Amino acid sequence: MGRLQDRVALVTGASRGIGRAIAADFAAEGAIVVGTGRHAATGLPAMAEIVAGGGRARFLEGDVADEARVQEIVATVLADHGRIDIMVNNAAIQREGRLAEQRTSDFHDVVNTNLLGTFLFCRAVLPAMVTQGSGVIINVSSVLGLVGDPVLPVYCATKAGILGLTRSIAIAYADRGVRAVGLCPGDVDTELNQQYFDSQPDPAAFRSRIEREYPVRRIATVEEIARVATFLASDDASFIAGTHVLVDGGILSRIYEV
Ligand SMILES: NC(=O)c1ccc[n+]([C@@H]2O[C@H](COP(=O)([O-])OP(=O)(O)OC[C@H]3O[C@@H](n4cnc5c(N)ncnc54)[C@H](OP(=O)(O)O)[C@@H]3O)[C@@H](O)[C@H]2O)c1
Repeated sequence: MGRLQDRVALVTGASRGIGRAIAADFAAEGAIVVGTGRHAATGLPAMAEIVAGGGRARFLEGDVADEARVQEIVATVLADHGRIDIMVNNAAIQREGRLAEQRTSDFHDVVNTNLLGTFLFCRAVLPAMVTQGSGVIINVSSVLGLVGDPVLPVYCATKAGILGLTRSIAIAYADRGVRAVGLCPGDVDTELNQQYFDSQPDPAAFRSRIEREYPVRRIATVEEIARVATFLASDDASFIAGTHVLVDGGILSRIYEV
């Protein structure tokens, strides 16, 4: 029996990176996983790999910012599986550039994916979780929900907003059996993070510098984040609600290196 045996889990942005690793770890712990993303061309093979490894997973295409599609995805999962035990709001994008360089369209794109998408999926799954009398919502924020980044102002705003949303959901629904928790990774080795490194004049040197900035002298693997998500989704975390969990290799524990 896995720690998430027969739980039905919906994971947004499961086609690559952290979301894919969460989907795989959940499935390895016995969950029935429904992964989403905008592109079936990458999402289908990602979930097929989990199935090939003996897990239960499927992919539903959709943009988290598309309100009608979010409703459809949740309705499909409920129709096919009867319940939703775990909701992981993981899909996110970022647009690098200092505030004066950011276009209004960048603001809308980042807010719509990261914050509106999280809001829409939380709102869509909550009625079922309340009816069940149980459920876990994990909203993926970031260390950048807690501190700023000069070239990711809108991303930081959404990640801070996600923590506020999570706290509010948690205290509104905790007595109905629903736990909402934020998850704040530091740098993780994914395409999104590589996009950040690539926005610098010397990406390889910048990446090395960032790795050295971490007290653990490296950035995280996707599996290190997924294992914490699995813990938070499991009954082992039954008294964790409303707060956020930092998975940051110690980076936020110091002011600067001496
Ligand atoms: N990597 C890091 O260093 C790091 C650090 C802290 C926090 N995080 C957070 O961790 C989460 C995952 O990041 P990641 O690094 O794994 O990113 P990633 O490698 O870029 O993967 C993002 C996933 O989200 C999907 N996605 C993007 N926009 C979407 C939309 N509008 N609707 C549906 N799906 C969408 C992508 O698939 P499609 O493109 O096919 O839609 C992909 O599956 C994000 O919330 C991010 O903010 C990451």
